[in-house]
Amino acid sequence: MIVSLKSSTQSLVCPESHTELKLVEDNESSELFIENSKGYKFIIRNNIPCLLTEKDIEESSYAIELFKEKAAIYDEYQHLSFEIFYKSEEDVRNNLIDKLNLKSGYQVLEVNAGTGRDSILISKRLDEKSCLHVQDISFDMLSICHQKLQNVLVPVVITQSNAIRLPYPDDFFDAVYSFGGVGMNTYANNKDAFKELIRVSKPGASIVIGGLSLGPWLRNSLFGQILANHNKHYLNSVDLHHLPVEARDVTLSWILNGAGFVLTFSKGLGEPKANFDFQIPGIRGGTLRTRFYGQIEGVTDEAKRLLMKMAKEKGVSMHNLIDTIIKTEAKKNDIE
Ligand SMILES: C[S@@+](CC[C@H](N)C(=O)[O-])C[C@H]1O[C@@H](n2cnc3c(N)ncnc32)[C@H](O)[C@@H]1O
Repeated sequence: MIVSLKSSTQSLVCPESHTELKLVEDNESSELFIENSKGYKFIIRNNIPCLLTEKDIEESSYAIELFKEKAAIYDEYQHLSFEIFYKSEEDVRNNLIDKLNLKSGYQVLEVNAGTGRDSILISKRLDEKSCLHVQDISFDMLSICHQKLQNVLVPVVITQSNAIRLPYPDDFFDAVYSFGGVGMNTYANNKDAFKELIRVSKPGASIVIGGLSLGPWLRNSLFGQILANHNKHYLNSVDLHHLPVEARDVTLSWILNGAGFVLTFSKGLGEPKANFDFQIPGIRGGTLRTRFYGQIEGVTDEAKRLLMKMAKEKGVSMHNLIDTIIKTEAKKNDIE
C-alpha cells in the first residue's frame, strides 16, 4: 500500500539541508507541492514526490534521459540478463535479499529501484509494521514501480530522488539495498552514494549492493570479452576504496558465474577500533601510538648506537629509556 502524501512527507527531509518538509497546497491551482524550510517547492507527479534539486537534474540528465527511453521495455528484457548465465532472475534477487536479514517492523530503503523488480520481492518479506522506502532518479522507471506496489501489504514511500542526495534523515534505516546502480561506476559520484547509504542507515544496519562487474580474473577470457562487447557495464569495477570508514564486516563475492558482484557491509560508528597502546616487546619498545605520534628529529647513528647499548645494559626498551631521559632533563630545567 502506498503511504499517503501527508504521511510520506513527514518521514522525508530536504535532500540538501536534511531539514523538515511540509506538504502545501497552491491557493490558486490547488496543486500539491512539498516545501522545504527555505520555501523551495518540490513538485509531485502522479503522487510521486520529485525531490530532485536543480543540481541533481543538471548532473544526472544523462541517467534521467537514458531510463526515460528504457522504462517501457525494461521489464520485457531484464530476465535475459540472468538467463544468459542459466540463472533464474528471481532466485538471484532473492539470494541477495536474504542477506538483508529482514524482520518485522524494519524501515528498509531500496536505492535505484527502477521498475521495482526487487521492490516486490522485498515487500513480500515485510509486514504492515514495516515501511519500504523506494527511490530512483527516473520518473518513468518509478511510475512502473509505483503501479506494482499499489497492493502490497507493507506501507511504501516512493520518491524520485538522487542516490547521492537522499531525502531521508540520518540513522533512519535498518536495511539498505541496491541492485544495478551504486558501486558500479555508473553514478556520477560513487563515493557520495556510499556516504549517503551510510548516513541514512542506523548503526548496525545491513547494506547489500549488487550489480554487473566481471571478476578481474575473467576480464581477458573469451567469456569476459563477449559479455563486455555486449554491455560495457560488465567492465565496471567495484569501488571498494570509496567505501566510508564506517563500513564494517565488508564482504565482496561474485554471482552470475563471475559476471556480477555482491558487496555487503554493516554500518559502524566512526573508524574501526584497535588497541594501539599495548607495549611492544623487544629492544625498541613503545606502542603503535607512540611510534606514530612520537616521531622526533632523527638522531645520529652514534646516538642511536649508544641508546641501544644503554637500553640493553639497563634492561629497558629504547622507547622507555629515551622517554625517561627527555622527561628527566625537562624536569631539571623546569620545562613542563
Ligand atoms: C540498471 S537499472 C536497475 C534497476 C533495478 N534496481 C533493477 O535491478 O532492475 C539502474 C537504475 O538506476 C537509476 N539511477 C541512475 N542514476 C541514479 C541516481 N543518481 N540516483 C538514483 N537512481 C539512479 C536509473 O534510473 C535506473 O532505474
